[in-house]
Amino acid sequence: MMRTKTESDILGLILKHFPLSKDIKLEHPADPQYGDFSTNMAMVMAKDNKENPRSVAQDIKTKLLSDIKINEGDFIEKIEIAGPGFINFYLHKNYLLKQAIDYNFDLEFHEKMATYGQGKTMVIDYSAPNIAKPFGIGHLRSTNIGQAVYNLYKLLGWKTIGDNHLGDWGTQFGKLIVAIKKWGDKPVLEMTIADLERLYVKFHSEAEDDESLNEEGRAWFARLENGDKEARALWHDCVTISLQEFDRVYQLLGVKIDYTHGESFYETMLPDVINELKAKKIAHESQGALIVEFPSMPPAMIEKSNQTTTYFTRDLATIKYRRENWHPDLVIYEVGADQQLHFQQLFATAALLGWQPTEGFVHIAHGLIRWKTGKFSTRKGDTIHLSDVVEKAMEQAVKISERTAVGKDLTKSEQKVMIEAVAIGAIKFSDLSSDPHKDIIFDWEQIMSLEGDSGPYLQYAYARCKSVLAKSKIKETKDVEYISDPLTAEELKLLRTFYLFEEKIVNAAESFNPSILANYLIDLARIYNEFYAKNKIIGTEHEILRIFLTQTTASILHTGLTLLGIKTVEKM
Ligand code: ARG
Repeated sequence: MMRTKTESDILGLILKHFPLSKDIKLEHPADPQYGDFSTNMAMVMAKDNKENPRSVAQDIKTKLLSDIKINEGDFIEKIEIAGPGFINFYLHKNYLLKQAIDYNFDLEFHEKMATYGQGKTMVIDYSAPNIAKPFGIGHLRSTNIGQAVYNLYKLLGWKTIGDNHLGDWGTQFGKLIVAIKKWGDKPVLEMTIADLERLYVKFHSEAEDDESLNEEGRAWFARLENGDKEARALWHDCVTISLQEFDRVYQLLGVKIDYTHGESFYETMLPDVINELKAKKIAHESQGALIVEFPSMPPAMIEKSNQTTTYFTRDLATIKYRRENWHPDLVIYEVGADQQLHFQQLFATAALLGWQPTEGFVHIAHGLIRWKTGKFSTRKGDTIHLSDVVEKAMEQAVKISERTAVGKDLTKSEQKVMIEAVAIGAIKFSDLSSDPHKDIIFDWEQIMSLEGDSGPYLQYAYARCKSVLAKSKIKETKDVEYISDPLTAEELKLLRTFYLFEEKIVNAAESFNPSILANYLIDLARIYNEFYAKNKIIGTEHEILRIFLTQTTASILHTGLTLLGIKTVEKM
């Protein structure tokens, strides 16, 4: 785990006197009343020397205190010994204030955060919807999580490359061509994605009774791969109308992916990959097909017995292409958990080929989005389409705008901006606020709730901060750098929450889990709301400090939500 500035400050203090062993931990106590950080070092050292841990802790405390000027309050407020010998550190309010100031200056904040990545390169493969199929909510999840992970790494100073590995090649296009030829009633370019989807669904229901259809589908895919003119033209038209639809979706989501190299992009690179696999004796023939075998997994198919290539081979070519062109240190795939085996086989094969990036491959295997009725799949024709979800979210956002206090004062165009930001924000937040590996239940009431853990709740908290700031005459809050007055409990609690922002960003990136950041933002908003309820802001002696706290809350919410790909609105 990369260390944050505060952790380094405390470890630096300890290291002046004591060596650190790997058993020594520096953590946040579960209950903040025990301080901001806590270490078990006294217990570890006492055990090694068979001493009493509490008296070892006392000695350590005395040594550390000799190094800090407690009275000047520039770093630590107090050090306490607790329980069997924990040493607890309480950060000083002026140290916390200084850290908080950073968050109010975009440039300084970005500079500080960018030191983490040290110019390393990361490639992330996300979104990747399939041509001729509507953009479903599984791909929505990949898009949202993938974009958030991309944003986090970018902030941390990595060179980040997003690549949309569109599903635009494979046997399914053979099947689709069969369906278009048999049942299509107009030229493909005049069809919608929904028309194509219906044809695809029809193919599967007909093929249940007529196996020869599948045979025909495979044959058409072989023709497509061999460059057959008619097959290529039909395929090309399907790609065109799909891309139009996907662009509309990305625009709505405010997502822009650096590259879109679909599977078909790798066509010409496949022979090289296949030759290398054969030359290195990694792949071998089995019943006319070419496969890779593994000690503890089923084999992966490189080439089928009719000489067509596979999703797997195209993914290998993709790895090779990215290696040769982008030289990534880390390669991340944001793809559903149902492809776990595929990626395990893929990473194992890449390792055999010596194609592993220095920091490895990661598969963020996201769970399903469930409705009350369970999983949805295209084959049965009961997919949940993104457009239906967005439409419903918009309806609910309209209701929110009618309920909030300022909603009525907004102009028509402000209202429109707000409704769209709230609707899209709500959908994204529901994807991002739980661990990607877990399934999520799509529950409209919770997603759109102004009180609960939701996107609108955060947007509302941000708008509240903005309205407080607009009401105060104080525009300059740098004077807070040193505060001699005691703080109220709520003021201190906010300060003790701010500095964690940096660490949450680092943790979220390192564990490929944006929900760490999302949940932190919810905590912050709750703590701000508590502060707001109990501390009058305007016209009090603490107005400067309280405006500063409000401004810092707003900055963190804004930066955090932007990292999650969620828009804020000034009024709500
Ligand atoms: N298009 C695929 C699907 O919808 C996802 C592709 C993921 N990326 C990859 N490199 N395999 O299932």
